[in-house]
Amino acid sequence: MATDLGPESLTEAVLESFAHTPDPRLARILASLVTHLHGFVRDVHPTIEEWEYSINFLTATGQKSNESRQEFILLSDVLGISMLVETLNHEETPDATDPTVLGPFHVVESPWREFGAEISAASTGERCLVRGTVTTPTGDPIPGATVDVWQANADGFYDVQQPDVQGVGNGRGLFTTDSDGRFAFTSVVPSYYPIPTDGPVGLLLDATGRHPNRPAHIHFQVRADGFTELTTHIFVAGSPYIDSDAVFAVKSSLVVDFVPSEDQDLADRFALPTPFAVATVGIVLEPLGQPTSQYVPPVLPRS
Ligand code: BEZ
Ligand code: FE
Repeated sequence: MATDLGPESLTEAVLESFAHTPDPRLARILASLVTHLHGFVRDVHPTIEEWEYSINFLTATGQKSNESRQEFILLSDVLGISMLVETLNHEETPDATDPTVLGPFHVVESPWREFGAEISAASTGERCLVRGTVTTPTGDPIPGATVDVWQANADGFYDVQQPDVQGVGNGRGLFTTDSDGRFAFTSVVPSYYPIPTDGPVGLLLDATGRHPNRPAHIHFQVRADGFTELTTHIFVAGSPYIDSDAVFAVKSSLVVDFVPSEDQDLADRFALPTPFAVATVGIVLEPLGQPTSQYVPPVLPRS
């Protein structure tokens, strides 16, 4: 092992220490990580106090996480890393609907519901009909796809944030597309809401003068045999914060008009009061490609 290492030779020594990593993907990840982290440190030249604070910040981020709260994902979200990973991976499925972040509220299973069912019976607010199709890039319907949806209510809260008010499962639904690849549900038009700010991520936003809000949206996770799984949202057109999402997740292709309607036939068919809003969604799934070779990491020790 080399001694008397300076700022540059130290980086070389650490790179060399990982140079014999047997798995080529892991070797590439570590080489890039060391190069960029060392470059960042040389650039910023942190004081010892700043370095200690950084360690404490990351420790607090881990300590704030539990089974129903993932502060590291939130940190990744507000730094734009989650969206960067989504966007880079989407380059491999360019014909599919744009993906966006999963977010931390997919923590309970959505209840199975029938075509056209109400998902937010426990919520008040403007009612809406959301209907759509799941198709291939050439427009062929995909029957039997599962469409998992979850959303906040009209006050901006998910069921898991208000279990006593909404009941767990409110604002969620798991649907299967029919023989024409169609799905439909009724709900309330969701509101914009703030991401959780009572942890280190909240401190970061506060210290940097950033707001914590996300524009109104409904989450979708869509799966079908033979197709790449899609995690995305639809965003309510005209929602506050549509141009300044705290987690950088808005794609214009995902912004959907919730069109006011007084159509009595539709209202009767879906048991809606008039007026209501109608959102129409076209989801396109990409057929599965060849699996790429990936590093399979060891199972992590449990604490
Ligand atoms: C969400 O939309 O549920 C969400 C996404 C990222 C961070 C916080 C919340
Ligand atoms: Fe959300």
